[in-house]
Amino acid sequence: MSQPISSPASTHLSKEASAARRVLLFGATGTIGQATAQALVQQGFIVTCFIRPPKEHNNTQRLDLLYPFLNGTQIRFGDVSNSTSILKDGFCGERFDVIISCLASRTGTPKDAWKIDYQAHANILECAKKMQVGQMILLSAICVQKPLLAFQQAKLAFEKLLINSGLNYSIVRPTAFFKSLSGQIKRVQSGKSFLIFGDGQLTSCKPISDKDLGEYIVSCIDNSLQHNQILPIGGPGKAITPLQQGEKLFELVGKTPKFSNVPISLMNVIITTLSLLGSIIPGLKDKAELAKIGRYYATESMLVLNPLTGQYDEKLTPSAGTQTLFEFYEELVSSKLDVDLKEHSVF
Ligand SMILES: NC(=O)c1ccc[n+]([C@@H]2O[C@H](COP(=O)([O-])OP(=O)(O)OC[C@H]3O[C@@H](n4cnc5c(N)ncnc54)[C@H](OP(=O)(O)O)[C@@H]3O)[C@@H](O)[C@H]2O)c1
Repeated sequence: MSQPISSPASTHLSKEASAARRVLLFGATGTIGQATAQALVQQGFIVTCFIRPPKEHNNTQRLDLLYPFLNGTQIRFGDVSNSTSILKDGFCGERFDVIISCLASRTGTPKDAWKIDYQAHANILECAKKMQVGQMILLSAICVQKPLLAFQQAKLAFEKLLINSGLNYSIVRPTAFFKSLSGQIKRVQSGKSFLIFGDGQLTSCKPISDKDLGEYIVSCIDNSLQHNQILPIGGPGKAITPLQQGEKLFELVGKTPKFSNVPISLMNVIITTLSLLGSIIPGLKDKAELAKIGRYYATESMLVLNPLTGQYDEKLTPSAGTQTLFEFYEELVSSKLDVDLKEHSVF
């Protein structure tokens, strides 16, 4: 991994862009990382993406075909768990003006969360300081304001490190992504019921689209009001509940609304059982944590917590961007587009 590998697209950077600032982007292959890379390129930044090599990589593979969503960027491979690799394979001794990280644990298990959400970021920060980078923008999550889960604690621990680092920082804490609220479209299209916890009104959120969030992250580079700030951010429009999401989907597919209620007490039983068994069978410990993540999102709103009332508060949750979740649902249903749900395939 000693030599950086450039995508063919990177050789066509315009002269205009060459006078622009240089951004080193981590997590560029993820949902928001891709959107951020595209927003950066569109706005004329010179973008280097530091990603892990694909599982079966050989030097003859065309990177522009492997990563079409990173067109216009330079791709470098390496290991975020290793500071030497970040310096040698990522920075390559070059100057960067800004670090942006959209890196995140893909599993959410405690071990992976501390490895990626905390330690990999700590490695990146250490290298940024060594290379005298002045600014770092971090994609975090609004749920860290009530940190009950391992991945939230790991994220929060790194947020503290960044705040105390002396770098100009922006910590972006978005509400819910569209992909996380699109897992039941196929169920509804196939005539099945929409699953809700309780009465479907236990929680609400102001979802933000990938593109709007990518652009918001990039706006942190130059907007001094977003410097040295923790920035909760949602999408446009009012907060919506799971019940409203289900109703909209049934309306769009032209079917009679049909809901199935999942009691929270059932999740509690599952979590208790998995936690108890997890002390004997280690694999079940991770399953218990994943079930806890499910319960968290079933019971906690993705809105700013009002410090005075202790309640989630729609009015205190800022909005950015233009696309609403319901417009996205409309596009998905009418064009039969597929959305890459990965771990979000149930809810
Ligand atoms: N889902 C939501 O509704 C929501 C709401 C608010 C905030 N958030 C937060 O937003 C953040 C990003 O979310 P996302 O959906 O864009 O994430 P994602 O699609 O899962 O992408 C994660 C990125 O991190 C990289 N990564 C993970 N483990 C790695 C490892 N061991 N080595 C190298 N790279 C690794 C992935 O690379 P590979 O492609 O190589 O795996 C990918 O680029 C997360 O922190 C999440 O908590 C999510």
